[in-house]
Amino acid sequence: MSHKLTWYGHATLGLETGGHRLVIDPFFSGNPASPVKPESIAADFILITHGHGDHVGDAVSIAKRTGATVISNFEICNWLAAQGVEKTHPQHLGGGFKYPFGYLKLTLALHGSALPDGSYGGNPAGFLLTTADGKKIYLAGDTGLFGDMKLIGEEGLEVAVLPIGDNFTMGPDDALRAVKLLTPKHVIPIHYGTWGLIDQDAIGWAAQVETQTGAKVHAIRPGESFTF
Ligand code: NI
Ligand code: MN
Repeated sequence: MSHKLTWYGHATLGLETGGHRLVIDPFFSGNPASPVKPESIAADFILITHGHGDHVGDAVSIAKRTGATVISNFEICNWLAAQGVEKTHPQHLGGGFKYPFGYLKLTLALHGSALPDGSYGGNPAGFLLTTADGKKIYLAGDTGLFGDMKLIGEEGLEVAVLPIGDNFTMGPDDALRAVKLLTPKHVIPIHYGTWGLIDQDAIGWAAQVETQTGAKVHAIRPGESFTF
């Protein structure tokens, strides 16, 4: 069984696993790094880490067009339902649920979560997905470094998707420390390069991580995929 993770720039990802199509933090309109328009996105499930506009993005329009189920925290699910999104599945930090695509748990993230209209968006989260064949994928979401990443690492990670952009999230130095706590086999850096404010040298960072840890870094470009 193979799993295909596609980066659409910023924090927007696609994941194809076991015939299910997931989109994470669907920010396409207004995302200068996105190579595709939201109209071309197919989705069975939409996962949203927190309420900020660069993560909620086009969730409402994609969910309405595709009929996808949106998975997020309770507050964000309620906000989307009020805008006509029919299928939502609320969870909260530390809680997991077995979906057709795997077991999905919400993890801690050190960040904010206000929604675009100023509504309360609950607590920000990351996702820990265990695929149907037992591979663990950690999507950190927007977060600063925290010591409990060590606990997440104890689960045995195949892939960790980490922000490296600095300013709003971990920068390269803290993201390197995160890799040391998480000990994943593979790392994909995201949340950088979208705007000048969060430009980073991902290739240089990858070399540093691979020198100091056992992880392999895949600094894919927007539109590219990593299959595992
Ligand atoms: Ni954010
Ligand atoms: Mn963000």
